[in-house]
Amino acid sequence: MNEKQRKEMTQQIREGNPADVKSDQDNLNRLKEKTSDDFVKYFQTTYQPPDIKKARKRGKEEVKYHQDFSVSDDLVGIGKGKKFLIRTYGCQMNEHDTEVMSGILTELGYEATTDTHEADIILLNTCAIRENAENKVFGELGHLKPLKREKPELILGVCGCMSQEESVVNKILEKHHHVDLIFGTHNIHRLPQLVKEAMFGKEMVLEVWSKEGDIIENLPKARRGKTKAWVNIMYGCDKFCTYCIVPMTRGKERSRRPEDIIQEVRHLAAQGYKEVTLLGQNVNAYGKDLADIEFGLGDLMDEIRKIDIPRVRFTTSHPRDFDDRLIEVLAKGGNLMPYIHLPVQSGSSEVLKQMNRKYTREDYLELVGKIKNAIPHAAFTTDIIVGFPNETDEQFEETMTLYEEVGFESAYTFIYSPREGTPAAKKKDDVPMEVKKARLQRLNALVNDYSNKALQKYEGQVVDVLVEGESKNNPNVLAGYTPEQKLVNFEGPKSAIGQIVKVRVTNTKTWTLDGEMIEEAAEVK
Ligand code: 5AD
Ligand code: SF4
Repeated sequence: MNEKQRKEMTQQIREGNPADVKSDQDNLNRLKEKTSDDFVKYFQTTYQPPDIKKARKRGKEEVKYHQDFSVSDDLVGIGKGKKFLIRTYGCQMNEHDTEVMSGILTELGYEATTDTHEADIILLNTCAIRENAENKVFGELGHLKPLKREKPELILGVCGCMSQEESVVNKILEKHHHVDLIFGTHNIHRLPQLVKEAMFGKEMVLEVWSKEGDIIENLPKARRGKTKAWVNIMYGCDKFCTYCIVPMTRGKERSRRPEDIIQEVRHLAAQGYKEVTLLGQNVNAYGKDLADIEFGLGDLMDEIRKIDIPRVRFTTSHPRDFDDRLIEVLAKGGNLMPYIHLPVQSGSSEVLKQMNRKYTREDYLELVGKIKNAIPHAAFTTDIIVGFPNETDEQFEETMTLYEEVGFESAYTFIYSPREGTPAAKKKDDVPMEVKKARLQRLNALVNDYSNKALQKYEGQVVDVLVEGESKNNPNVLAGYTPEQKLVNFEGPKSAIGQIVKVRVTNTKTWTLDGEMIEEAAEVK
């Protein structure tokens, strides 16, 4: 179907202006018509979902950098007097994408709200990493249905990682007719046009690109806080771990230019931000795709540590690409925080092989040893998957012993969740869910124990805390993080919010520290 035919077809489906629709029955009819069989068929035949086989073969074609994002004159102000709400699921990458989408919607004239009833546009920025993440989104779509019925002019959109999956898009097209807009992780910069189409055309707007490769530099960002900021350094992932959907949902690895990143961090420092976290699915692969320069994560961190910002972090690391240059730079300390999140996934070399992690248990331990030598006070945390298909009791025990050998201070632990389209999802799995649950329970008990032990070391010590705000449970208590990423609760003046202060630790719990503030402003170590 060509562009002209597409227009004709969507024209046929188009049905008046929603503002004219008065009764509930009319609304229901409209929703039904919007997803007529022809229309669904059209999208199902023209939509090109990301495909893992093609993705694996993807080349290193040149990344194009665009510095020219702008909202065209006819779109400025289309959100004036209107409100938006974005629900974010998943990782920091998604949190940051939400900041970008909020920035774009603000440029269109929209204002933020946290009340679904007030919102004129609601976007669900979704995560596809495990089945339960997806179930939450489908649950939320169900909850929002009555609202959409009451208020047909509401634009309801689904974006983020789930939109990059064919099965999800098909399910929405078939079962969630009240969705107006679906767009993928590579289409965020198209939000102004997509909102306009959703607003004025009455068909469901769907734009998901399997093609990726471009980096759009000057997108607006409405950052959530004034103290800590996310900074993307690269996008995508080319590691193809067999359980993971991310190489499909986020596309191939592509790095931002160092000068653009450095400028962004400098700008944040000048605005008074106290901490930046450099973001990527696999930050250690930073720079590999930069054809004209030899410049890796270590080199980037070496430049960023010279910027006058008190704290610099990075996430997420892949052990395979964690090189000596990076360790050497991290050992220089200063504003580079002694905190290493290094997902291991399993302690068994055989399972790691089946996961296509490209390192063994021994490789991992050697790397940790090197980092500990260079940065003896570094805190290590990790991600672990239990119940990978056919994981044996012995293999699981290897994960337990590795945890102890490294002495992780905390971990995110998950039961393996098959993701359609990934190689592991095709494996027959003979481990019953009960066994997987029992393994997770044992692992979590160990994680709690080690977290508690790690925190006990701080009893009586004075720590630097970057104060984020009032504690969630008690507005009289302030909360913030140490350089090693330990959460500290303490009583102190509101003026300390956004500052780094000295706190004496008076009590340790399983996950957090309690303390008393002893000095208003602390020097950066
Ligand atoms: N099932 C369970 N956990 C997963 N993760 C990634 N994919 C899956 C999956 N299919 C976990 C990994 C990763 C973290 C972000 O999520 O541990 O590091
Ligand atoms: Fe979830 Fe991964 Fe997408 Fe982040 S990149 S939102 S963790 S699927």
